Amino acid sequence: MDCKNASKWRFFTTFVRNFFGLMKEIDWSNLGFGYMPTDFNIRCHYKNGQWGELETSDSEMIPMHMAASCLHYSQEAFEGLKAFMGKDGKIRIFRMDENAKRMQASCDGILMPRFPVEKFTEAVKKVVELNKHFVPPYESGASLYIRPLIIGTSPQIGVAPAKEYLFIVLVMPVGPYFKGGFQTTPFCILREYDRAAPLGTGIYKIGGNYAASLVAGKRAHDLGYSNIFYLDPKEKKYIDECGAANFFGIKNNTYITPKSTSILPSITNKSLMQLAEHLGLKVERREVPVEELATFEEAGACGTAAVISPIERIDDLDKNITYRFSKDGKPGAVCTKLYEQLRGIQYGDIADPFGWVTIVE
Ligand code: PLP
Ligand code: COI
Repeated sequence: MDCKNASKWRFFTTFVRNFFGLMKEIDWSNLGFGYMPTDFNIRCHYKNGQWGELETSDSEMIPMHMAASCLHYSQEAFEGLKAFMGKDGKIRIFRMDENAKRMQASCDGILMPRFPVEKFTEAVKKVVELNKHFVPPYESGASLYIRPLIIGTSPQIGVAPAKEYLFIVLVMPVGPYFKGGFQTTPFCILREYDRAAPLGTGIYKIGGNYAASLVAGKRAHDLGYSNIFYLDPKEKKYIDECGAANFFGIKNNTYITPKSTSILPSITNKSLMQLAEHLGLKVERREVPVEELATFEEAGACGTAAVISPIERIDDLDKNITYRFSKDGKPGAVCTKLYEQLRGIQYGDIADPFGWVTIVE
């Protein structure tokens, strides 16, 4: 669909929605974290060695060759970022240039052509504008989740990179990733699972890593935990990350987060490190031995979907040890302050001294 038709379609669907009151059916305050169809997605094809123009689509489907490299050899990378509706009625997108750069790193990691940063940010702004009535209202505390992805689309049976690719960015309104939002939840350590190899693809945001985490994630959920807490895959001595989020611990006015060659460089964690410094905390990014968990006053999982999910306790199920980070089951003072500052900047409630948000006009 070209832009002219897209704008006619938008006018028509908005009219129909308002007329029949369909938007009122979305219970913004009780959204979970899941797929919901919206009006448009943006696509871009890579052929003959170059990326083409951005295209607007109203289809949820993609025609796909049965031998496409994404289907056989997981040539797929994705991103996750969010847009927020402010009290002032303005929509703010958080740090999309960082996601654009990380997606380029993921492309390098699995031999896909880099998607240009400017094209990425243009596509993200465009998809948010086209679906702006799906950005949850300020009061709901929900947000619009933006999911860009790149897949290898040309047939590939020998193990080698595809020649053709498709970039897509889709959006959906979402609520909290971990049940209950900003509440403490328990995690567990199970040494029999790794999500990535020591020098493997854990640092990239690619589908294969997530397929590799499904069994461990299910096991943790079945045992009543929010997710699994991975240790470094080489020695099982150090903390890696927790499910689809990075880890941080707080002690002695210091924000401590793992440095590892097998975890995703989280944009939320990068932001929290800056915020922590801004709030007068010391910041350490280093190897964190498992036993050090016993010394943390507070701990949290952080990510775009997770935001900050304060950790109640970590049960080391192999060693029968419990590490507790909350005495009364409530989030600690530092986690709460960091959460309020981050959310405040994202929703436009407080000034953005770092230049992290882009307002969609
Ligand atoms: N680690 C993993 C494995 C993830 O999937 C995510 C989610 O994106 C994160 C960490 C957090 O990264 P970010 O803060 O950039 O969303
Ligand atoms: C995100 O936080 O954006 C993620 O990608 C997590 C996701 C795998 C649900």
